[in-house]
Amino acid sequence: MNYQHLFHSGNFADVCKHLSILLLLTHFKQKDNAFCYVETHAGAGLYDLHSETAQRSAEYQQGIAQLWQQANLSPLLQNYCNIVAQFNTEIQLRYYPGSPCLVQTQLRDQDRAILAELAPSAAQELKQYMGADKRFAIHQVDAYQAIKAFLPPPEKRGLILIDPPYETGKDFSQIITSLQYLHKHWRQAVVAVWYPIKKRTEVAEFHQQVRATGLRKILATELCIYPDDNQLRLNGSGLLVVNPPWQFEEQMRGLFAELLPLLSQHPKAKSSVSWVVPE
Ligand SMILES: C[S@@+](CC[C@H](N)C(=O)[O-])C[C@H]1O[C@@H](n2cnc3c(N)ncnc32)[C@H](O)[C@@H]1O
Repeated sequence: MNYQHLFHSGNFADVCKHLSILLLLTHFKQKDNAFCYVETHAGAGLYDLHSETAQRSAEYQQGIAQLWQQANLSPLLQNYCNIVAQFNTEIQLRYYPGSPCLVQTQLRDQDRAILAELAPSAAQELKQYMGADKRFAIHQVDAYQAIKAFLPPPEKRGLILIDPPYETGKDFSQIITSLQYLHKHWRQAVVAVWYPIKKRTEVAEFHQQVRATGLRKILATELCIYPDDNQLRLNGSGLLVVNPPWQFEEQMRGLFAELLPLLSQHPKAKSSVSWVVPE
């Protein structure tokens, strides 16, 4: 495992993913009863954008740095920037909260989280940031084993984020197996799967495999800052959402309409929200 999220923290894909998660959590919080948040590839929790590693890639410059202290943002984007600001004591942007830290600001007393992270150093950092919070259970374990070991949780309501680094070539097939497991054992869960958009053919193949599972009600939300035929880099950020809440589709369209011009000036930048499988 060579992947280090510090290279990518706060980039456009993190921004898209984290805003989508915040939006999904607002739906869960509309009801008083408890929910369980599950993250299978949790990362280190908090990232120092001034570190040598983050500075070398400087990916956050085309992500959070474009939104940071931007005026006239919608309430959702402003709330996200305010949360990031909570992790920065100075006006200058330095620390970027990964999804576990962002989610921690959103959970209520009755809610709970289960986090899995395989890399020992990232898991240790995560425990350091979140370990004292009794609502969080942190496990240094393989993501796909964690799904089978810990799910379904006693709470009937829940959100799962599956956010692998896609280093090994096995993640797409392991995700399909996990979706089938979740469909069988925790059907009402909302499942969010992040995927990279590098080659359109690869994404089309993944969507086809998802369709072949027979699962219903699956939305794909995608934001591409470069044309998706550019084979050299991460062109876009995709999030597949199984069982999206009512109105999430329209809310994501509104979010992307605001976000796209902030994150890319490329003439072929685009976003889409479409059903891979309808209800
Ligand atoms: C994209 S990063 C996670 C970022 C985090 N979800 C966030 O948004 O802040 C992917 C993480 O998965 C971890 N990882 C890689 N393979 C794993 C596996 N099989 N099980 C659990 N974690 C794994 C990596 O160490 C890395 O920290």
